[in-house]
Amino acid sequence: MRIFSGIRPTGGLHIGNYLGAIKQWIALQETNECIFCIVDLHAITTPYDPKELQKNILEATAIYLAAGIDPEKSIIFVQSEVKEHSELAWLLETITPMGELSRMTQFKEKSKQYKDYVNAGLFNYPVLMAGDILLYRAKAVPVGKDQEQHVELSRTIARKFNQKFGQIFPEPETILPKTGAKIMSLTDPKKKMSKSDDPKSCISLFDTPEDITKKIMSAETDSGKDVIYNVTKKPGISNLLTIYHLLTDTPIPEIEKQFKGKGYGDFKKALAKVVVDYLEPFRRKQKELQTRDVYVKDILEKGAERARTIAETTMKEVHEKMGLS
Ligand code: TRP
Repeated sequence: MRIFSGIRPTGGLHIGNYLGAIKQWIALQETNECIFCIVDLHAITTPYDPKELQKNILEATAIYLAAGIDPEKSIIFVQSEVKEHSELAWLLETITPMGELSRMTQFKEKSKQYKDYVNAGLFNYPVLMAGDILLYRAKAVPVGKDQEQHVELSRTIARKFNQKFGQIFPEPETILPKTGAKIMSLTDPKKKMSKSDDPKSCISLFDTPEDITKKIMSAETDSGKDVIYNVTKKPGISNLLTIYHLLTDTPIPEIEKQFKGKGYGDFKKALAKVVVDYLEPFRRKQKELQTRDVYVKDILEKGAERARTIAETTMKEVHEKMGLS
């Protein structure tokens, strides 16, 4: 089965992004044809610094590689290197109802967040995403829960195209992470972890061991002293337990047992070590890739070439169906 997913190179990806989406992709590449895209054309729909973009693309590539995506098995490439993405997005825009787009939760949220930057690209973001997926005729799209609505819209667009011009696109399915667990902010465990909040609230995949330890040791906990999972009464400790669980694959009751009679301090110390160790390959890979520009560029170039071959074939058919050739 062909699978497509993407991440925005916006810098500062954190463990919430990783556990909520990227981690799931690794297993998929063993039995499927996977295409993983660094979606720079999506990243520019919200305020960004052009001088930082290439660095962030490299960082996103490091995350893919450090997470275990194998460029021999999967295609890794940068969206803007394959021109067909922009072209298919334009063509699909002509069959996408504005009403559907104005209902998108992410558009509503982002246009509230960036009041002075509500551009047409932000509005059309989901059509570009549909284009990404349909260009490769991907059957499944592994993403976090927040992107489910966009994949749903991609299905609608595929169906519309097929009805209007003739069958060429499969309707893509969403693959959601098995653990629905959301990672919450370390300083305010009632809110989702987000890199745009206080840096103390969020663990970046490339944080130093010192920073990780400091952030976890000062994470907001709850009254009482028992390490027990209870989201309503102990949102802080429950969030830390979730992180521990996801990184070690230890069931939560098992962790509770392990820390019975010990306080929050001991648990946090142990968790800090778990996180530091878990993220070690990310720091190593990032350092390594910073000195191996040629190697990274080569992976991305080869990826783009493979992607282009598929994209060109689809576009040829799209042109024919739409009467453009
Ligand atoms: N919109 C996705 C996000 O913000 C990123 C993305 C762009 C994507 N194109 C995609 C994800 C295609 C899956 C498939 O996370």
